[in-house]
Amino acid sequence: MRPPWHFSRENANLYTRPEAGLVRCIWCARFEGIDNVPQIFHRSFNTLSKVSIVAALTSLIVLSLALYVVGWSPYVTQEKLARVQPVQFSHAHHVGQLGIDCRYCHTSVETTPFAGVPPTKVCMNCHQEIWVGASALEPVRASYRTGAPIAWERVHNLAQFVYFDHSIHVSKGVGCVECHGRVDEMPFTYQDKPLLMGWCLDCHRNPKPHLRPRDEVVNMTWQPSGNRAELADELYKQYHIRSTEELTSCSTCHR
Ligand code: HEC
Ligand code: HEC
Ligand code: HEC
Ligand code: HEC
Ligand code: HEC
Repeated sequence: MRPPWHFSRENANLYTRPEAGLVRCIWCARFEGIDNVPQIFHRSFNTLSKVSIVAALTSLIVLSLALYVVGWSPYVTQEKLARVQPVQFSHAHHVGQLGIDCRYCHTSVETTPFAGVPPTKVCMNCHQEIWVGASALEPVRASYRTGAPIAWERVHNLAQFVYFDHSIHVSKGVGCVECHGRVDEMPFTYQDKPLLMGWCLDCHRNPKPHLRPRDEVVNMTWQPSGNRAELADELYKQYHIRSTEELTSCSTCHR
């Protein structure tokens, strides 16, 4: 049956029945279920809308995944990022080539929570005689003259609410290299590990494979001779390493 409604050519939005003096907008007409109202949207719109909903959901998932990944990324954790320092001090040079012991400069690493950065006096022990005129060392000499410490940019910076202690790790035979990487190969000092909670916990759950003899803690290239597992067991007992429960308890690091 042919419906009495006509599609208005003058106004594409209107649907009319002039003989009865009736005018409907196309959308209302469709809504009211009037027969044979032309499709406002092409039939392919149905498929299109489904596709776009799926696409929107997918991009939402991809986006949140990306945010999650970025949250753990070196960009956020500041891993492998060199700082601009007032003096271009190179560990590669001083440790790798000259073989200076970490503890010569980071004197408090074995006895206090902080490793500390050396005072200018320590640099001048050598640089009063070596490279005396070098412009690269001018900030060091200026600091020595004026007594104002060199303003080193911190490379590592744990959140305030985290408790960390160098001395306990060093005295239980955890080497610097476990947490700082190959400092002896760094011309610029950078953070080698993420320092995220998960990273700390990974080791605290099972520190055994990370233990070494105490006198090897600053050795960047130490390898166990003999049976590694046996040595690990032995050191684990010798150092009286606390239980996993204790080392992973929140109050160990958040106090
Ligand atoms: C000759 C002195 C000297 C020696 C030896 C030395 N360091 Fe350093 N270290 C410094 C100075 C100066 C800084 C600060 C400038 C910088 O970050 O490069 C520093 C910075 C660091 C930092 C980054 C500190 C921060 O800001 O978070 C780490 C980690 C570090 N040293 C580890 C080591 C280790 C491990 C060794 C031994 C393998 C070592 N250092 C040997 C002088 C020294
Ligand atoms: C044990 C001696 C010693 C100490 C301590 C020492 N240096 Fe040096 N430093 C050297 C020698 C040796 C050189 C290399 C000279 C050369 O290449 O001929 C050097 C080179 C440098 C250079 C030139 C750039 C480079 O690395 O080639 C800078 C900058 C420098 N030292 C900064 C420092 C600072 C800052 C400190 C203190 C945190 C310091 N040094 C402590 C021995 C020392
Ligand atoms: C168990 C992991 C771990 C070990 C082992 C370790 N460090 Fe660190 N180190 C850290 C963390 C984490 C920080 C950052 C601390 C902060 O921001 O409060 C840090 C910071 C530093 C700093 C910056 C100054 C400071 O005291 O915060 C220096 C220098 C340093 N370490 C040197 C060393 C040296 C040298 C050794 C070996 C004798 C060593 N570290 C062993 C994890 C470690
Ligand atoms: C490579 C292994 C390793 C990593 C990484 C590590 N730790 Fe530890 N941590 C140990 C060992 C081993 C002990 C000593 C356990 C014991 O005393 O029995 C320890 C002990 C501690 C203690 C106990 C100190 C005390 O006096 O009670 C604290 C706090 C601590 N770690 C914090 C941290 C934090 C924070 C991080 C991460 C930034 C971290 N640790 C990363 C191995 C590690
Ligand atoms: C071995 C040390 C360690 C232990 C044990 C530990 N945390 Fe953490 N926690 C950290 C470190 C390091 C950070 C800082 C991470 C950062 O800077 O992103 C942190 C951060 C956090 C944060 C801040 C959010 C975040 O992820 O950055 C919360 C909340 C937290 N810890 C809760 C806990 C609770 C609850 C427990 C016990 C189940 C616990 N932690 C045990 C080391 C530890």
